[in-house]
Amino acid sequence: MITKINTLRKAKNAVVLAHYYQRPEVQEIADFVGDSLQLSEQAAATDADVIVFAGVHFMAETAKILAPGKKVLLPDLAAGCSLAESCRPDDFRRFIADHPGHTVISYVNTSAAVKAMTDVCCTSSNALKIVERLPAGEKIIFGPDRNLGDYIKSVTGRKEMLIWDGACHVHEAFSAERLSALKQQYPAAKVLAHPECKTAVLLLADFIGSTAALLRFTQTDRAAQYIVVTEPGVIFQMQKASPQKEFIPLPGVTAPSSGFADDCGACNDCGFMKLITLEKIYRALQSGQPEIVVDDDVREKAEKAIRRMLELSK
Ligand code: 13P
Ligand code: SF4
Repeated sequence: MITKINTLRKAKNAVVLAHYYQRPEVQEIADFVGDSLQLSEQAAATDADVIVFAGVHFMAETAKILAPGKKVLLPDLAAGCSLAESCRPDDFRRFIADHPGHTVISYVNTSAAVKAMTDVCCTSSNALKIVERLPAGEKIIFGPDRNLGDYIKSVTGRKEMLIWDGACHVHEAFSAERLSALKQQYPAAKVLAHPECKTAVLLLADFIGSTAALLRFTQTDRAAQYIVVTEPGVIFQMQKASPQKEFIPLPGVTAPSSGFADDCGACNDCGFMKLITLEKIYRALQSGQPEIVVDDDVREKAEKAIRRMLELSK
């Protein structure tokens, strides 16, 4: 399968971009592996004709928005995102209309339609920087992740920040009680948490950051053990970079807000991310399908918000 992918990738001048939450074998064959911000930067910069996105729908859509002349393939269109789903365009439009005079900041984990009504996008890597760059006192609408929003609000002390009530079912499923129990089991381990986790979980963390920031931390920090409180796909890169260290995933508990059919109650995989397989990547390269298409008007507006993010996060 890998040989077949490589032959087609070369013939079609294609790149495979993969998120850290992808299956290990998918990360292994990718041309580039990164977090949401790094992947959008790669999509904007690539000179390939075809981008095969080993990630979820909003990521492939972001790539298409930034690179409209390229063919963007998402190997399984069912690879959605519970966080993006928690912010329906019509509801968000009403929310903005009900609160005029606010600068709208949206996490990239949103549909193109939501990005099109956004002033500036952000990812977990740059959300803090982007909010800090806005003048003090500026009224902000921050969507759709309430946990990331609460975290940014508490770090910056910004009072004028309205936060949309959305969440990612994977990160919502981590509980502070389970984390405390695991900390007792591994007292020397440092706790690494993604800011999509609830405040009670973040309060127990030694380091909070995007997937790329968590990975970087493990490469420079001197601890021997880490409890990883995010989707466990990133542990593949952590272990590869630091084979002598131990990485312990925190099991999730089913979040009442989840609504995602594949929740298993104890695991913490993002079932959407794990839909992408080598075979589906091969089939996508072979058939040129499923292709991501974004309406021109929506694309142009959404691009402004993403480009503003890329500018502000320099
Ligand atoms: P980052 O890639 O910004 O760490 O976000 C994690 C995530 O949930 C992506 O879906
Ligand atoms: Fe969406 Fe959460 Fe999966 Fe990321 S981990 S793609 S935010 S459902």
